[in-house]
Amino acid sequence: MNDDLGARVRGDFPILARRVNGHDLHYLDSGASSQRPAPVIDAMDDYYRRHHANIHRGAHTLGDEATQMYEDARARVASFLHARDPAEVVFTKNVTEALNLVAKAWGGANLGPGDRIVCSTMEHHANIVPWFQVAAQTGAHVEWIPLTDDGLLDMDAAARLIDGAAVVACTATSNVLGTITPIAEVCRLAAEAGALSVVDAAQLVPHMGADVEAIGCDVLGFTGHKVCGPTGIGVLWGRRELLDAMPPFLGGGEMIADVTFDGFTPAPVPLKFEAGTMPIAEAVGLHAAIDYVDAIGFDAIRAHEVELLRYAFDRLDASFGDKITVHGPRDLGVRSGIVSFTLGDVHPHDLATILDQHGVAIRAGHHCAKPLMSHLGVMATARASFYLYSNRADVDALVDGLEHALALFEI
Ligand code: ALA
Repeated sequence: MNDDLGARVRGDFPILARRVNGHDLHYLDSGASSQRPAPVIDAMDDYYRRHHANIHRGAHTLGDEATQMYEDARARVASFLHARDPAEVVFTKNVTEALNLVAKAWGGANLGPGDRIVCSTMEHHANIVPWFQVAAQTGAHVEWIPLTDDGLLDMDAAARLIDGAAVVACTATSNVLGTITPIAEVCRLAAEAGALSVVDAAQLVPHMGADVEAIGCDVLGFTGHKVCGPTGIGVLWGRRELLDAMPPFLGGGEMIADVTFDGFTPAPVPLKFEAGTMPIAEAVGLHAAIDYVDAIGFDAIRAHEVELLRYAFDRLDASFGDKITVHGPRDLGVRSGIVSFTLGDVHPHDLATILDQHGVAIRAGHHCAKPLMSHLGVMATARASFYLYSNRADVDALVDGLEHALALFEI
């Protein structure tokens, strides 16, 4: 197997040299948050040491430099997403805020009684709760695209449900099942139906990138901290004409063209959606993160993760047989580097705690996808998730730790 990428990049991530509980760190929680390479940390350090001031206020040299760096980051995100216009890129706090922005601003202005919002059964709460909130305000309601037994979208049902819908809110990659959805086909169905297509790309962008024109969506969100960037910054990309027509989300400084005693006029996009002081250093860090992953290339990242998935499935099957249930598709062509599982009767939180004693970091719980947990008939799963710096040794440590846990808990 090709472990070259993991070996080549590991030294770029200072945290991976840590030891945890007397063991080398084996970080298998990149689905929750990736780690940062030195170029990202250095870019933010340099920004704070040499350039920081508030942006878009134009009064002095530092302010001009910071504004330029912030707007350079926007332009970089636009080219990364193959967007036509940097004004289509709105910075937010995270993908949750990006999806809330769309649901509240677009949904509040455009949805009404009887309108249907179609979500997939594998959505993260970030692409569910805002739609429930706006549905409660407008009289719209939420419907669900079911899944097949192997954790794929049921596309026949999707076609029926999307016909006549007002909104289609769908993930490009499940944070639990690892399923890579046929998101371009979902968006094509939405466009045919005249529905707004809203793509949660939080788990797609770090591993495969995203081309908004090829996907054919109306809006798409992702978050910086899963793509080697900082926490505190997310991205909403939206079609220019759609963003132009949407009312603002948050009100305050910087998002206005004018304010009088009688009211306000919003600024043009994207500033209309960027109220208050924005995460400037985080935009600089995100720029560096995108440069970093782009230089490595998504073909290499994807190939590496598929090889690790294959190795993990082989080792888990060989060690645990029918004691382990791994959720999601076995077809690695439609699976991202996420392995959610239950093992015997051991509670996922116990598995995570024991693995931590072995230096292995995984996530356990409902993964902010409670409707999906209900569909799977489980309260929680354990989840190992890979990224470009993961390697075979991480998988070996996972399997060793799980063997230990099973020996402890099994009668
Ligand atoms: N949404 C992130 C996850 O899946 C936090 O873990």
